[in-house]
Amino acid sequence: MPDKKTYYITTPIYYPSGNMHIGHTYTTVAADTMTRFKKMQGYDTYFLTGLDEHGQKIEKKAQEAGVTPQEYVDKIAVETKALWKLMDIENDDFIRTTEERHMKIVQKIFKQFYDQGDIYKSEYEGMYCTPCESFWTPTQLVDKDGEKVCPDCGRPCQPMKEESYFFRMSKYQDWLIDYIETHPDFIQPASRANEMLTNFLRPGLQDLCVSRTSFKWGVPVDFDDKHVVYVWIDALSNYITALGYGTDHDELFQKFWPADVHLVGKEIVRFHTIYWPIMLHALGLPLPKQVFGHGWLLFGADKMSKSKGNVVYPGPIVERYGVDTLRYYLMREMPFGADGNYTNESFLTRANADLANDLGNLVSRTVAMIEKYFDGLVPAWDESAVDLELDAPLHEHCAALPALVEEQMNKLQFSQALIEIWKVIGECNKYIDATQPWVLGRDPEKQGRLGNVLLTLAECIRFVAVLIGPVMPHTPARIFEQLGVSDPMLMTWESLSSFGKLPAGTKVCKGEALFPRLDVKKELEALAPKKEEKKPEPKKEEKKEPKKVEIPEGCVSIDEFFRCKLRVAKVLSCEAVKKSDKLLKFELDLGNGERRVILSGSHKFYEPEQLLGKNLVIIANLPPRKMMGIESNGMILSAVEEKEDGSEYLRVLTVDGDIAAGSEVG
Ligand code: ME8
Repeated sequence: MPDKKTYYITTPIYYPSGNMHIGHTYTTVAADTMTRFKKMQGYDTYFLTGLDEHGQKIEKKAQEAGVTPQEYVDKIAVETKALWKLMDIENDDFIRTTEERHMKIVQKIFKQFYDQGDIYKSEYEGMYCTPCESFWTPTQLVDKDGEKVCPDCGRPCQPMKEESYFFRMSKYQDWLIDYIETHPDFIQPASRANEMLTNFLRPGLQDLCVSRTSFKWGVPVDFDDKHVVYVWIDALSNYITALGYGTDHDELFQKFWPADVHLVGKEIVRFHTIYWPIMLHALGLPLPKQVFGHGWLLFGADKMSKSKGNVVYPGPIVERYGVDTLRYYLMREMPFGADGNYTNESFLTRANADLANDLGNLVSRTVAMIEKYFDGLVPAWDESAVDLELDAPLHEHCAALPALVEEQMNKLQFSQALIEIWKVIGECNKYIDATQPWVLGRDPEKQGRLGNVLLTLAECIRFVAVLIGPVMPHTPARIFEQLGVSDPMLMTWESLSSFGKLPAGTKVCKGEALFPRLDVKKELEALAPKKEEKKPEPKKEEKKEPKKVEIPEGCVSIDEFFRCKLRVAKVLSCEAVKKSDKLLKFELDLGNGERRVILSGSHKFYEPEQLLGKNLVIIANLPPRKMMGIESNGMILSAVEEKEDGSEYLRVLTVDGDIAAGSEVG
């Protein structure tokens, strides 16, 4: 038998400077989802996560808590493992950088760099940012209110001078530029590759200071014990030390390296796509196949972060709504790569709309109808009662679904994969409306037709149950129980190779609602922080008379311009309007739970799926307008080019980079 294909995925190893919040949970759930998906497809998977336990920041935290650094990190390690258990994370290993298996190899790697001339000793004088543990040159610092601050975190830096070891990064710069340019999949999303090339690599790499003498909590340089190894050299090595690299037991390393993907937040793409590849190349090792820099979960306009203290913890949410609901929300709410706002409201709205209404109702209606009309036994297919026009599109769509999901998952587009699954759920609900089983049920001659309708629905639900498993590990079993599916062979990826495997006679069993509908108002109150601090009333500004400015003819005043409310709108769904060859119907996300439908005459220039997930610019304060019976609330801005032959070519306006849906434009 041929060896199974392997798949190695990692998360960053997080700093135990506080408990892990929903931002860390986001990356970890994504890695877990991907692992489960690959496992389902038959891959031999390896999923690594862990903690980055060294550095001055941790040393300081421990001091503040009045414990040793080791005691401090041990406690957080226990809590982190418990959180991942709660979130149903199935990691294969949990590496901690204070473990001997890791530290010994980091020392060996550092020594090898030194011996082969990649590392040299010199003196460093520069500005140092303690929270980021980074030195910056004067040109790298940024100006904030007259003060020079850290370009990464915006906090003040202190002058610092120390004897240090340096890594000759500059030696590898041209090789790395060439590597990135010739391996377009290496850094994803592609915009981040451009950022690395333009901002860091092409301007020239500085040699990197890779040891510290100002604190002790790190891996000692074994040939010069005044120094500890720079945390990033220490931390990045985890991806290979955990596999036994450099030891006599490196079977895992031989099997799984190079990693298929390192998932990281966008703020640490630089470390993973510049320092890490150079380290690996210097060790003569192949590079990971991909580094994916995902976006941030924001809280208001800010990144949620331990140091800013504006974090949301998953524990209370899971306790109240279950782990699958939170995992679904995290994977569905924002495209992987883009930023998104976490709000309790968007969480509750999504749970109600997608889980309670779309999925939950489909399952309960189908099971209830099989109970009512067929004594709870899934009916057999009746060839004489086929309605090709209604049945065939749904059968075909559902049969094609695994491939559509696979395509999106392989691009780590979890939300798109879920959108594909929910399209079939939506189609099933429409199929119920179109076939009207309750009408068929009144006519004994229509038994065959009714049976086909219900069998179709039950089989679609089986497909959905299998495909949502990687994101929602508990829900498939609950659905299979209601559908009466107990044969494990019907729960596999392989079982989706053709539509129609669900056998007649399967005994369904109505259970409780999969996802009870939530009362948003009540739940918001329950989730609100207990002691809400009252915000001081904003002072009323005195109204000043605006200065009169002469507006030349043909111009608009700035006030007039600003009366148009332009906003960024993210495309949640886009479909052609029936019976129109021009119109596309967009469902748009305007942030903070606000949704809108806008119609636009752009179908000649775009297929609907081309626009999914894009950040468009809309005029948000136009009066509603009805077209083809659908109300449109605003206008999507686009540029129109008039071609020489008199035809037009249209492109919608999109916004560069990651920006929260709803942001104002102007
Ligand atoms: O950077 N939104 O650790 P860290 C999305 N130890 N993801 C978030 C997030 C948010 N608001 N907050 C955290 C470190 N994350 C280093 C890594 S790896 C060799 C060393 C996730 O505790 C995201 O994956 O600051 C981000 O990159 C990581 O946690 C940062 O964790």
